[in-house]
Order: sequence, then structure tokens, then C-alpha cells
Amino acid sequence: MSKERALCHSSAIAEGQSKGFEFEEQRLFVVHKGGRFYAYRNQCPHLGIELEWLPDQFLDAEGALIQCATHGALFLIDSGDCIAGPCQGQALTSLPCRCDEEGQLWVTL
Ligand code: FES
Repeated sequence: MSKERALCHSSAIAEGQSKGFEFEEQRLFVVHKGGRFYAYRNQCPHLGIELEWLPDQFLDAEGALIQCATHGALFLIDSGDCIAGPCQGQALTSLPCRCDEEGQLWVTL
């Protein structure tokens, strides 16, 4: 059953940054880009493992794409589609994410 969870205040994720979260063994991350927030399960479609080596580091050096640290797969921030790497043509699993009027971020798991 899906459930909406409070993540954090939106100010905790600066524009162009990303942040990881864990709820009851479910791992996810959020990217703040262009004034919007995008949430994905933290699971690379290549091997099904987590994407990051360092905490909260889910983006490439330019902050333009999501990058898997293991084999370098690159994903579009706004869709999760893999555009390069061993899982090209596959996609991250996106999660519904919203920011309420007080700036609180919510995600549906
Ligand atoms: S595990 Fe992510 S690209 Fe291989």
C-alpha cells in the first residue's frame, strides 16, 4: 500500500543538489533542479544496487545528469531515463513528490 511520507524542508536541498533518504529499508533520493523536485528509488536498473558512493552525491560533475557511481550510467533528471551506460534505454523508478505551501517535501512510497 502506498503511503505519503514527509521527507524534509525543501530548503534542505539547494538548487542543483541531491539528497538521499531511507524509510523502513526503502532507499530513495531527491534532486532539486530548475525549481522542481524529482524523487527516484535509489536503485540502478543495471545491477539493482544503490547509485551513490558518497552520501547525497547522485549527480555528475556538471550537475546536469544523475550518475550511477558504479559503472557511470547517466540518467535524465526530469524523467529518470538512462541515456548512456550499461542500462541505456532503461529508467530509474520515479516516485510522486510534492512541495506543500510551507515548503515541506512529501514523497509517496
Ligand atoms: S550498477 Fe549502475 S551502471 Fe552498473
